[in-house]
Amino acid sequence: MATTTPPAGPSATPSVRELYDAMSYGPAPEGDAPVREWIARHDGTFGHYIGGQWVAGSSTFDVLEPATGKALAQVAQGTVADVDVAVAAARAALPAWQALDDHARARWIYALARGIQKHARHFAVLETIDNGKPIRETRDIDIPLVARHFYHHAGWAQLLSSEFPNHHAHGVVGQVIPWNFPLLMLAWKVAPALAAGNTIVLKPAEYTPLTAIRFAELVHEVGLPPGVFNLVTGDGSTGAAIVAHDGIDKIAFTGSTEVGRAIRVATAGSGKGLSLELGGKSPFIVFEDADLDSVVEGVVDAIWFNQGQVCCAGSRLLVQEGVADRLLAKLRDRMERLRVGSPLDKSVDMGAIVAPVQLERIRALCQQGIDEGATCWQPSWAEPKDGWFHPPTLFTDVAPSATIAQVEIFGPVLVSMTFRTPEEAVALANNTPFGLAASVWSENINLALDVAPKLKCGVVWINSTNLFDASAGFGGYRESGFGREGGREGLWEYLTPIKAHEAVPLPVIDATAHVDTDEDTVHVAALPAIDRTPKLFIGGKQARPDSGYSLTVRALSGRAVGEVGEGNRKDIRNAVEAAQAAGGWAKLSGHQRAQILYYIAENLSVRADEFAQRIASMTGDAIVAGQVEVNATISRLFTYAAWADKHDGAVHDVPLRGVALAMHEPIGVVGVACPDPYPLLGLVSLVAPLVATGNRVVVVPSARFPLAATDFYSVLETSDLPAGVINIVTGQRDALARTLADHDDVDAVWYFGSRVGATAVEKASAANLKRTWTEWTGREWLDPRAGEGREFLRRAVQVKNIWIPYGE
Ligand code: NAI
Repeated sequence: MATTTPPAGPSATPSVRELYDAMSYGPAPEGDAPVREWIARHDGTFGHYIGGQWVAGSSTFDVLEPATGKALAQVAQGTVADVDVAVAAARAALPAWQALDDHARARWIYALARGIQKHARHFAVLETIDNGKPIRETRDIDIPLVARHFYHHAGWAQLLSSEFPNHHAHGVVGQVIPWNFPLLMLAWKVAPALAAGNTIVLKPAEYTPLTAIRFAELVHEVGLPPGVFNLVTGDGSTGAAIVAHDGIDKIAFTGSTEVGRAIRVATAGSGKGLSLELGGKSPFIVFEDADLDSVVEGVVDAIWFNQGQVCCAGSRLLVQEGVADRLLAKLRDRMERLRVGSPLDKSVDMGAIVAPVQLERIRALCQQGIDEGATCWQPSWAEPKDGWFHPPTLFTDVAPSATIAQVEIFGPVLVSMTFRTPEEAVALANNTPFGLAASVWSENINLALDVAPKLKCGVVWINSTNLFDASAGFGGYRESGFGREGGREGLWEYLTPIKAHEAVPLPVIDATAHVDTDEDTVHVAALPAIDRTPKLFIGGKQARPDSGYSLTVRALSGRAVGEVGEGNRKDIRNAVEAAQAAGGWAKLSGHQRAQILYYIAENLSVRADEFAQRIASMTGDAIVAGQVEVNATISRLFTYAAWADKHDGAVHDVPLRGVALAMHEPIGVVGVACPDPYPLLGLVSLVAPLVATGNRVVVVPSARFPLAATDFYSVLETSDLPAGVINIVTGQRDALARTLADHDDVDAVWYFGSRVGATAVEKASAANLKRTWTEWTGREWLDPRAGEGREFLRRAVQVKNIWIPYGE
């Protein structure tokens, strides 16, 4: 630090305080010569890295330095043809990469971790120059976390076969990443993908491709087999080419919700795996008993870290009314002392915004905030004007519905609101379509831990913020996307069960065939038709279909064996409402849910013969087949009753004085469209894991053989199941499934039917980014290895990581 001359006063000797106050910061620049030499050595021009070789692009674009606005490098713009070659290289490398044993893959990933550590300073400086974020952050946070990620996943590679039996890699993975944590996002994607045995085509963001290019050099230096990691640079069109490519088995994306939505639509019906880490508008909740000085430092970290360009930035400050004025005064005081400047200066708090377009977007949103009546406060000093800088900004007098309270600003802009009670805090916090992260500040651990599970988001930090580690999953709820990155949770995203992979496609069954079955398809006519009153099962009651119509159910013989109500949109709406109202189900203990599942099994077993006959009458199989199905269904109910109190979360071993609790939470209301084969067992195999884990369901049974389901609700009626937990709407399965996928209050849809139906469900799900699980290949439902178990449970929950530091 440099000192200035103390002010001359009546006393010639200044006090320590006066000296301290008069100190100012001197420049403390990090040396950047080695990095600029590295760029110069390449003549400032970089190509793609494909199949172990550097390939020049047919055209290039400029990469600019945010702190100066000057050109840094020319980088190849990837074309559809480049992506083709990269995918072919990844495909060609796949068999040998997968044939390696766990230890060999672990050694490669370990070599990458070592290489990153060895070149840590180079990566940190390059990241700072390319992105504009302070060197303090890249040096102390980003790059150490990158190395940590590779080390952690070298470990998972070593343990893969023993810890993930019966699973294998997806295959070729396409990864598209953003510019806010360029190398860290690469690490979050590449390390688990490699550990699981996938090969990769990765595209970095167009604003910040340089550390990914340097990483590709490292890949080359350590000698990773050619084609295992391929890098194609370019803009959104290159990303879109990766997403659309037929040769890719899974897409992993981090970026804006808007592009995430487009990717969901583009991949619908393709069978590609998909994980999306999208935007957020995360609440930072301060209760009146919080330690306000710690809170201020927390806020600095939450919203001014990386200039607020953080998907989980604590961008909405929610303060309990009694302490709001005091906290805001402290905050303004702290903001006045923040330093914005050259990101290579080790003593700045904030660097530059990544690109002019982002700076413009931030400014426009601030202006909109002012226009909508909020009060904008910025420190008295002026930010540098050479590059793209924005001062730290605080908005007060913000209405919860204001644009700046709702949309992701992705800049150093904090929006503050007040609340009176914990209930109001939770309501305000959840008043956004996003659900990525939240911070809760209170010295009362009871209060903090009571609030945490009520927040609809994937990560909660208690008395802390922006804590990350490779061993703890990170990811969102709702429009913040789905899938987790980090830890065991994250590794699942890059694996697929061997069974599902190798299943034989089912012969296509026309879902509407039950309406008018052709007599020619008859092969068994066992029982006389039974006259039935067609009903749906909604909110614990039998309900007449809104349409007033019913559908005739025919055996394969073509003879009518009963009728079911023809449900429509209105019935689905009513069923979703009933399911939403049954939220108390999630609060029951696993033991209580197990008791009800056992009771359903018991009541089904009393009527086993009747169900066996019914199934046989519809499917045309022998009664014994019906008996086998009913017995398997009873066993399945036992399986999930058994699991109801055993599908625990975890306590992650994070490098922190504290714990990170990975809690399994139900997704909410799940729409289920059932397969045709095994009409009772298929339904129960999907519904039971969902309700065992606390979800409520709206079930559309097999359209072809729905009577097993309508009989089933009479079992539910006698089993103490709370109203609204399981709702059954019969009718045209695919149309009703589509309605469920369209519905904003449905949180996930499981669809087991045709590819056409699955495509429609996945496309429609993009609107509120609900989770989907679709399958159109057959599953051997009778076989417990395929029809039940952890895969179902894992898909029935979302993981919330709650970080709890402790100690005085
Ligand atoms: P973006 O979502 O457009 O970019 C992220 C990545 O996706 C980049 O690599 C980009 O080239 C690629 N991409 C763009 N269009 C694509 C497409 N159609 N198909 C496949 N890939 C595509 O984000 P952008 O435009 O850079 O930033 C806009 C806003 O998005 C920001 O202001 C911020 O609000 C949000 N954002 C959120 C991030 C997060 O981590 N949640 C990260 C980056 C941006």
